[in-house]
Amino acid sequence: MDPKAHWDNVYRTRKPSEVSWYRPHLEVSIELIGEAAPGRDAHIIDVGGGEATLVDDLLVRGYRNVTVLDLSPTALAVARERLGAAAGRVAWLCGDVTTFAFAEHRYDVWHDRAVFHFLTDPQARAAYVRQAARAVKPGGHVIVATFGPEGPTKCSGLEVVRYDAAMLHGEFGPGFLREQHRTELHRTPAGSIQQFVYCYCKVAQPRA
Ligand SMILES: C[S@@+](CC[C@H](N)C(=O)[O-])C[C@H]1O[C@@H](n2cnc3c(N)ncnc32)[C@H](O)[C@@H]1O
Repeated sequence: MDPKAHWDNVYRTRKPSEVSWYRPHLEVSIELIGEAAPGRDAHIIDVGGGEATLVDDLLVRGYRNVTVLDLSPTALAVARERLGAAAGRVAWLCGDVTTFAFAEHRYDVWHDRAVFHFLTDPQARAAYVRQAARAVKPGGHVIVATFGPEGPTKCSGLEVVRYDAAMLHGEFGPGFLREQHRTELHRTPAGSIQQFVYCYCKVAQPRA
């Protein structure tokens, strides 16, 4: 099954709160985005946002330029419906993060929770990093959360790559300056614990 069909099938057959990655609120993400983007005009993209409530929480905090990208049209439709009229204040993009035609230097913050770790092919990871480098403004921030070294080896039936903070930062290379990382123990709706590592970095400014 191709990835789009896989993910759309997940979202057509499971309620939002039934998937293992569900949290009512993405607290660590909200905190890191708040540090990266104190101004409410910041352009923020949640890549592979799925049905996550992060977009709701960003709108509530007054952010005016929020984009959600996902492969699954069903996930985007569920999130839009949940938001009602407020959905009109969000840019919704359906596509693959590794190939989407992002406008150059559009975003101040790039956020990804539990997407990058599905890229088991090094070429796909390199394409992802090129996309982030293109889409994020110099001086902007990239927040990527993956399963940590003690996290699961699979999610949603798919193999993942697990990272510690150094490995995750290493995937992004010298164009991304490491600022901090966090570890989170996520309790799934079924009650198991999954270790996540969040990498928070800044896109290097070109030298004058
Ligand atoms: C484990 S879910 C995480 C969803 C959300 N970030 C969260 O934390 O609740 C992974 C999400 O990434 C999306 N996805 C997977 N591969 C993708 C890709 N190549 N491009 C865009 N979205 C992708 C899936 O459709 C799914 O919504």
